[in-house]
Amino acid sequence: MPSPARRTLSLFFHCLVERKQATQYSSQRIQDDWWTYKDSVQGSFVPGPGFWGLVNSAWSLCAAGKRQSPVNIETGRMIFDPFLTPMRVNLGGNKVSGTMYNTGKYVALRLDKEHLVNVSGGPMAYSHRLEEMRLHFGSNDVRGSEHLLNGQAFPGELQLIHYNQELYSNVTEASHNPSGLIIISIFVKISERPNLFLKRLLNRDTITRITYKNDAYLLHDLPLSSLYPDTQSYITYDGSLTTPPCHETTTWVIMNKPVYITRVQIHSLRLLSQNQPSQIFHSMSDNVRPTKPLGNRCIRTNINFSTPSKDCPNKKPRKLQYRGAHGRQATLSALIHTFRTDVPLILRQTDTIACYLTLCVSKKSIWHCYLDGVFLALQIVLVVPGHSEEFNQRPLTFLPLVL
Ligand SMILES: *[C@@H]1O[C@H](CO)[C@@H](O)[C@H](O)[C@H]1NC(C)=O
Ligand SMILES: *[C@@H]1O[C@H](CO)[C@@H](O)[C@H](O)[C@H]1NC(C)=O
Ligand SMILES: *[C@@H]1O[C@H](CO)[C@@H](O)[C@H](O)[C@H]1NC(C)=O
Repeated sequence: MPSPARRTLSLFFHCLVERKQATQYSSQRIQDDWWTYKDSVQGSFVPGPGFWGLVNSAWSLCAAGKRQSPVNIETGRMIFDPFLTPMRVNLGGNKVSGTMYNTGKYVALRLDKEHLVNVSGGPMAYSHRLEEMRLHFGSNDVRGSEHLLNGQAFPGELQLIHYNQELYSNVTEASHNPSGLIIISIFVKISERPNLFLKRLLNRDTITRITYKNDAYLLHDLPLSSLYPDTQSYITYDGSLTTPPCHETTTWVIMNKPVYITRVQIHSLRLLSQNQPSQIFHSMSDNVRPTKPLGNRCIRTNINFSTPSKDCPNKKPRKLQYRGAHGRQATLSALIHTFRTDVPLILRQTDTIACYLTLCVSKKSIWHCYLDGVFLALQIVLVVPGHSEEFNQRPLTFLPLVL
């Protein structure tokens, strides 16, 4: 009895031989979408990431390329580049129509052809036009993003694909030419307050229209301004498409701010099928290419890690009452834990903390604080009752999700 791996392999070679013969009759035999995220046999063999570069000569970079994506971002190895300017986003109006697709691989959204959204500045020398957004997500909350942060994944990753509209006439041409693509990537996290743009796509009535492969659904009045994160901090590196043909023409820009979707919404995503209705249900989740080595590339950021915290209006830490999200009196370690898991933390008298958190929403004199950055270290001065003055004056540095 051969092991499953061997069986897959022999099946694969068998398949290759068959294909080689077949190509004599039709060069179109190997189709653009003859790949998957996990080697699978559904009637016939479909190659997973380890085989992408071997089954089609047009995809050879998937195996041989040295500037491939995604990568694991080690925050300790990022390089501060003071010459990275802020990015500029030109939305061309706030309301837009777009069509959402189940491609069998990921959820895609393409805006109206007439509507031009372009980005420039940052690491870009040219203006790039938004072509498509793609959503990758996991079967549980500890996987789903293609890029990793210090070895950890997020529940999902939203990728906004833009092509160089100054040099190329469409995304196909741009995707295999120099400086062709910019992909703005935003990690997806779970929260009770979803992003307004994604909320429109992921509510039950809408998402269930694209349950099966090749389903498409037209949406109107999408609030475009909620799509791009309102932060200017990002990291950037040169890489590739994360799907075949893996061309190394992409500059990645990963924003230091996540986008939120609800637990119900991510659950609905997991109920999408990779297949057509006539075929067996196969969840689309875990549509993630494994990370590739960074090699000699460097990851640059415009975040000046050595900048001391900005002055607070009220610099002196006051006595702080706090409790955990579930109403328990939080200990210091519980508080750190709360930060790490990004459960909204309920704090009182938090003007000290409010200075350091990127987003604090006041509600009935209680501050709901979300730790919003993904790379940026936060410095919080906590006054913990029952601890010495010296202990309380010591600033605590939280590196979100990297502790
Ligand atoms: C960017 O888009 C706006 C309209 O949304 C357009 O007016 C502008 O010319 C575009 N920029 C470039 C460089 O094409
Ligand atoms: C993209 O542009 C190239 C070059 O201008 C052209 O040959 C090709 O047909 C275009 N493709 C699509 C899908 O429009
Ligand atoms: C980055 O922060 C350090 C420490 O505060 C400061 O000396 C340096 O000037 C900053 N660099 C830039 C470009 O802002």
